[in-house]
Amino acid sequence: MGNQVMPREQLGICAEGNLHSVYLMFNALDGVEEQLRPSIANVAQYIYELTDQYADSAFNGFVGIGANFWDTFYPQARPALLKPFPAMNEGNRDAPAIEYDIFVHIRCDRYDILHLVANEINQMFEDLVELVDEERGFRFMDSRDLTGFVDGTENPKGRHRQEVALVGNEDAEFTSGSYVHVQKYKHNLSKWHRLPLKKQENIYGRTKVDDIEYASEDKPLTSHTKRVNLKDDQGQSLEILRQSMPYGSIKEQGLVFISVCRTPEHFEKMLRSMVHGDAHGNHDHLMLFTKALTGSSFFVPSLDFLTQFDD
Ligand code: HEM
Repeated sequence: MGNQVMPREQLGICAEGNLHSVYLMFNALDGVEEQLRPSIANVAQYIYELTDQYADSAFNGFVGIGANFWDTFYPQARPALLKPFPAMNEGNRDAPAIEYDIFVHIRCDRYDILHLVANEINQMFEDLVELVDEERGFRFMDSRDLTGFVDGTENPKGRHRQEVALVGNEDAEFTSGSYVHVQKYKHNLSKWHRLPLKKQENIYGRTKVDDIEYASEDKPLTSHTKRVNLKDDQGQSLEILRQSMPYGSIKEQGLVFISVCRTPEHFEKMLRSMVHGDAHGNHDHLMLFTKALTGSSFFVPSLDFLTQFDD
C-alpha cells in the first residue's frame, strides 16, 4: 500500500467485544436526504470522538447505510457488491429480510454512557427519521451465547480483523468501509435446555464448558461449525468477523448476529449452507432451536467518506 493514506474506518467495525451494546434501526422520513447526509456525518464523527473520550470504558460504534436506502443517500456511486439481504427459506428454516435505512451500532463497558449517547444520537436525528427498532445487547457469562456456548472463539484476531472486515483498494471510493449483515435470532431456550449435553455439543461441533473444537471427522455434517466453515476453490477459508451479542428479556431473548466483512459473499454462502445445507440436505441443526426474526444488509462507509457531507 506504500505511503498512501488510508481513509479512517469507523472504529466499531473491528473493535474487540464489550459488556453492553445498543442497536438503533431508523427509517428516513420522505424528502429529508439533504439534511440527513450532514446529520449522519455528525453522528459518525461524534461516535468517533467519544471513542477517545470514553477510552477507559472501551466505547466504540459505527453508522451503516441500508442497501435499499443507499442510492437515495448517495446517488453518485454505490459500493460494488452492495445488495439487499439474501432472504432464504427451506422447510422450517427461515431467513427473512427486513431492511432498515440507517443502523447505529454503539457499544461500551458502561451502560449509563451508552444510554446517554443513544439519546443524544436520537436527538441529532430529530425530525429526519423514525426509530423503528431498538435492542440492547449484553455480555453473557464469559462471552457465551444464551445457549451456553462461548461465541466468537474462532473470530479473526489482531490485525487480521481489519484484513477480513475492511474493503481494500479493490473498490477505491469505498476503501475502509465494510459490508454488514444483521439478523435478530429469537431462541427457543426451553426446547434447547431439554436437549442432553452431548446432543447440544454435537449441534455446535464444540464442547460446552471448555469450548474445545471437535476433530473435523467427529463433527456431524449438521453441526453449526461444519456448516459455516467454508473454503473457496483455492482451499482458502471464507472468513467473516462476527460482532454478535445476546439480547432480550424473559419474554424474548436470543442473539443479535452481526457479520462485518470486506465482501457480502462470505456471509451469504454461510447462511445458504445453514438453511439449504449441502448436496445431501445436511442443514444446520442449530436452526431447530432459534428463529431469525429479521435480516438486514448495510454498508458502513469510512468516516472520511461520510464527513465529506459535513456542514
Ligand atoms: C461459530 C453461535 C449464527 C457464522 C459459532 C460458535 C458459536 C456460534 C457458539 C462457536 C464458537 C466460535 O467460533 O465463535 C451462533 C448462534 C447463531 C449463529 C447462537 C444464531 C442464533 C451464525 C450465522 C453465521 C455464523 C448466521 C453466518 C452466516 C459462524 C462462523 C463461525 C461460527 C463463521 C466460526 C466457525 C469455525 O471456524 O469454526 N457460532 N452462530 N453463525 N459461526 Fe455462528
